[in-house]
Amino acid sequence: MTQRLANKIAIITGAGSGIGRAAAELFAREGAYLILADTAEAVEETAACIGPAAIPMRCDAGQEKDVAHLVRGAAARFGGLDIVFANAGISGGLASIFEQTPEDWQEILRVNLIGPFLAIKHAAPLMRERGRGSIICTASVAGLRAGAGGPAYSASKAGLINLVQVTATQLAGSNVRVNALCPGLIETGMTQPFYDHARANGQQDRLGHLNPLRRGGEPHEIAQAALFLASEESSYVNGQALVVDGGLSVSHPYNRQGWGITSA
Ligand SMILES: NC(=O)c1ccc[n+]([C@@H]2O[C@H](COP(=O)([O-])OP(=O)(O)OC[C@H]3O[C@@H](n4cnc5c(N)ncnc54)[C@H](O)[C@@H]3O)[C@@H](O)[C@H]2O)c1
Repeated sequence: MTQRLANKIAIITGAGSGIGRAAAELFAREGAYLILADTAEAVEETAACIGPAAIPMRCDAGQEKDVAHLVRGAAARFGGLDIVFANAGISGGLASIFEQTPEDWQEILRVNLIGPFLAIKHAAPLMRERGRGSIICTASVAGLRAGAGGPAYSASKAGLINLVQVTATQLAGSNVRVNALCPGLIETGMTQPFYDHARANGQQDRLGHLNPLRRGGEPHEIAQAALFLASEESSYVNGQALVVDGGLSVSHPYNRQGWGITSA
């Protein structure tokens, strides 16, 4: 069967865990050469599981010199760059707007919003020169409306969706596409405390119960959406925020019992 990313060169940030690791494994199976970035040592484990097609780099996705080095590394090692999955992110917890400090905001915005900005800034010119490319940024349903993350996290993801729209227009005529992914609740390192807490309290059936699929998602389900945006199958998709949330964000909250809805 034809591989969907055969001989494509891809950078994935946050590849040591969760969605980034699942995407690394999937992109590799689909024929891509990978530069895998993370601040955590676990990125070396991700690369080791994949083999010689993946190179790990310990770097901070929110630091310009690290990101510039990452992009130069991909070009030097593999001779170009086709795909960037700017996925690294931090949640910053669920403290309220009255509890968060400016320092909390600076760190969350630095990683979640300035990080993807830097990836775009350094990768897009290389892609434009080659006449093609796909950049995917992991935003969140938290960037669409309230209720799915702390204040700075939500603002960072809303900003990221807008950054993707602005970038798509600024790259007009380049054949470089930029899109955002908006996952709902996915079991990863970031959400592990919620999952652990729910399971410890016998409330695992409440995880993801607000969406019509009535379950949380798995990292590989987001990786599949990233693969679509990375591949030529999405060749006419640009500047979009693709929501992958089991349907969570399509509905206003409503009282099922009050409406007499009794189906599962
Ligand atoms: N898990 C969810 O429910 C969910 C929902 C919506 C969006 N997201 C987003 O998905 C993305 C991936 O998160 P995940 O859920 O896989 O969590 P995760 O914690 O399992 O993985 C995130 C990875 O990013 C790395 N990282 C953090 N800061 C970094 C930095 N400055 N530079 C480089 N690497 C860094 C971490 O070390 C970790 O390996 C994030 O952007 C997150 O906001 C997650």
